[in-house]
Amino acid sequence: MSRPPPPTTAVPFPAVHREIMHDSAHLHVTGAARYTDDMPDPAGLLHVAIGQSAKAHARILSMNLSAVSAFPGVVAVLTARDVPGRNDVGPVLPDDPIFAEGLVEYVGQSLFAVAAETRQAARAAARLARVVYEERPALVTIADARKADSHVLPPRRLERGDPDGAITGAPHRLAGRLAMGGQDHFYLEGQVSLATPGEDGDMHILCSTQHPSEVQHLVARALGRPDHAVTVEVRRMGGGFGGKETQASLFAAVAALVADRTGRAAKLRLDRDDDMVMTGKRHDFEVGYQVGFDDAGRILGLDITLESRCGMSADLSGAINDRAMFHCDNCYFLPAVRITSYRYKTHTVSNTAFRGFGGPQGMLAIEQVIDDVARHLGRDPLTVRWANFYGGPGRDLTPYGMQVTDFIAPDIIDRLEASSRYRERRAAIAAFNAASPVLKRGIALTPVKFGISFTTSFLNQAGALVHLYADGSVMLNHGGTEMGQGLFTKVAQVVADVFGIGLKGVRITATRTDKVPNTSATAASAGADMNGMAAFNAARTIRDRLAAFLASRWEVAVEDLCFADDRVTAGDRTMDFADLARQAYLARLSLSATGFYATPKIEVDKETLIGRPFYYFAYGAAVSEVVIDTTTGENKLLAVDILHDCGTSLNPALDRGQVEGGFIQGMGWLTMEELVFDAQGHLRTHAPSTYKIPGCGDVPAHFRVELINRPNPEETIHRSKAVGEPPLMLAISTFQAIRDAVAAAGGGGPVMLDAPATPERILMAVQARRNPGAP
Ligand code: MTE
Ligand code: MOS
Repeated sequence: MSRPPPPTTAVPFPAVHREIMHDSAHLHVTGAARYTDDMPDPAGLLHVAIGQSAKAHARILSMNLSAVSAFPGVVAVLTARDVPGRNDVGPVLPDDPIFAEGLVEYVGQSLFAVAAETRQAARAAARLARVVYEERPALVTIADARKADSHVLPPRRLERGDPDGAITGAPHRLAGRLAMGGQDHFYLEGQVSLATPGEDGDMHILCSTQHPSEVQHLVARALGRPDHAVTVEVRRMGGGFGGKETQASLFAAVAALVADRTGRAAKLRLDRDDDMVMTGKRHDFEVGYQVGFDDAGRILGLDITLESRCGMSADLSGAINDRAMFHCDNCYFLPAVRITSYRYKTHTVSNTAFRGFGGPQGMLAIEQVIDDVARHLGRDPLTVRWANFYGGPGRDLTPYGMQVTDFIAPDIIDRLEASSRYRERRAAIAAFNAASPVLKRGIALTPVKFGISFTTSFLNQAGALVHLYADGSVMLNHGGTEMGQGLFTKVAQVVADVFGIGLKGVRITATRTDKVPNTSATAASAGADMNGMAAFNAARTIRDRLAAFLASRWEVAVEDLCFADDRVTAGDRTMDFADLARQAYLARLSLSATGFYATPKIEVDKETLIGRPFYYFAYGAAVSEVVIDTTTGENKLLAVDILHDCGTSLNPALDRGQVEGGFIQGMGWLTMEELVFDAQGHLRTHAPSTYKIPGCGDVPAHFRVELINRPNPEETIHRSKAVGEPPLMLAISTFQAIRDAVAAAGGGGPVMLDAPATPERILMAVQARRNPGAP
């Protein structure tokens, strides 16, 4: 924090730490909340569709677009030649062409854009292109890329001690592997942008994006204009989940190019199938490991390899795979360890950020190692988890050299173990399984330790702009975006609290690049940490001016002023906050301020990955109980108990919502959402008919979520903790519970179950265990 906490706090915080409803909840449920596609159409609006590659890897020999141009209602057709600036929207490396030139590298890649008077006309015309391809061999899977030695970025390694020696010398050794699938974001609102040309080369873009600044900068480059020519605005998204961290730019750029070329407003909105085909997903991973351990299951040496499918370009794959490496310890001390990460290039759509950002994949990997070790020794996996926790002399350093100083996982697990009656239920489940030949139950308790901060350190900055009007009402703007997580409500609470006014006094406004510049994506769960602090700083600046003004007028000390209940008070003197605003205006005080925040203490070496990438860790733990049918593989999540750490929560109602939603989304990833690409690189699961996300019926009948309310030892805004992503990884407990049920099905040897644990995979895992030798 760049300033001490509010000094004049005679009254405890009136607006923060309270269960306040999401500011748009009444609009969400009545359908009155406006999303980009709900905005009234500007006069002369054109609708845009993208012509897509039908091949995963090919040279384009020719592209005949005459039938496209001739289609009734078509106004313009644009290709790579029509980009006045840079034909690229790569967020980190310039390897994401807006329109393919010569080479295509995934099915669905953008070849050209068509703008028409109606959406139907644009979409119908886009299908009329005659493209002649010369096909090249397509690398679709991780195995294909491994064999071809095809990488988007060089491999990375973190190593400490002598893992080979430690494994060889250990009393027990195991080798194992695990494959885990990707995940589609399935935000309810698909990708959409509306570009409106202004005068003299200006461009205004309404866009469903987590990163308005990046969209602004990339669109400006495509148009060949300075950043100041482009303004990006987003009031809210109908979900982002990481899928709109980088990948809104392509659609914004195409809409802007059409608007620039035609002088008319242009809207590009993908339908669900196109959205699923054309946008990147969570990275699927394959994990291989060797581990050496003692009789208690304590890990002595670990050599683990993480291989990920990145798709055709780098996108955010570097940082995502780094985060996977940073989370392959989870809560466990690894004395001698080697973590190797491969970032494979395939001819599939470029994979991208997804809630957890590589963390879930790294964490699932180590939880799998722990589970395998426990089953090998015939111990309860929870006992082996306990044996490996950080803590004790010389056992507090992560593989990347950051000290774990606030390790509250044991305390959380202790409490959850008791409140969920884990041990009693395990015994009851064993009794149930002994008496039940077909249905088998399983249970697992898994912890989460998730690092908070962008691992790319410079991104950890945020800005805000606060206006106090002369009637005492406040206009709030900051760099964060609202995607349903409740960020706007939380930041408004912080600002209302500074002024001691009710939440109604603070107007939450759309995120705009012309109000707060050079912002980072709303991502890495750091939205409230960073924008909350920036807005706090802006509001404090104004309040300090008000306080100095009033203190001199009343001849009291600034410290004696109390801002609370829409009033300012000092001893027996009191004034309405609105009156104070009016008086300050008449006295010609500036009532507008910017605020800025840069997260302190973080530093990491980009080459070695050694340092302190995270400001702090967020913790949590979950118990899942499942039942499987060993004859069909059908399964049900019966009961979930969660204890999660939000520091002192800014808003426990919103935080519980994030924990519930995050858990269910993680459960979907690990149990039912399955992406299938065929050998030619076509995504075969591109609609809800073939891609199953959790529904209401998949929420467990018993779903108990509790928050531990304990201040963050670091000086975050009101000592809260980030909550957006960490709860997703609580769902690893569900996957481990399914493994537990498979183990109970009888037979021996390791449990061979990949994620997602669909009925087919569960059935195969049961059979593999019952007949270990069988093909
Ligand atoms: N919650 C909702 N309802 N919708 C979303 O799109 N995105 C998640 C999480 N929770 C998301 C969500 C992701 S990926 C992140 S990084 C954080 O919210 C971002 O917001 P925050 O930083 O304000 O927590
Ligand atoms: Mo979240 S994956 O960091 O947008």
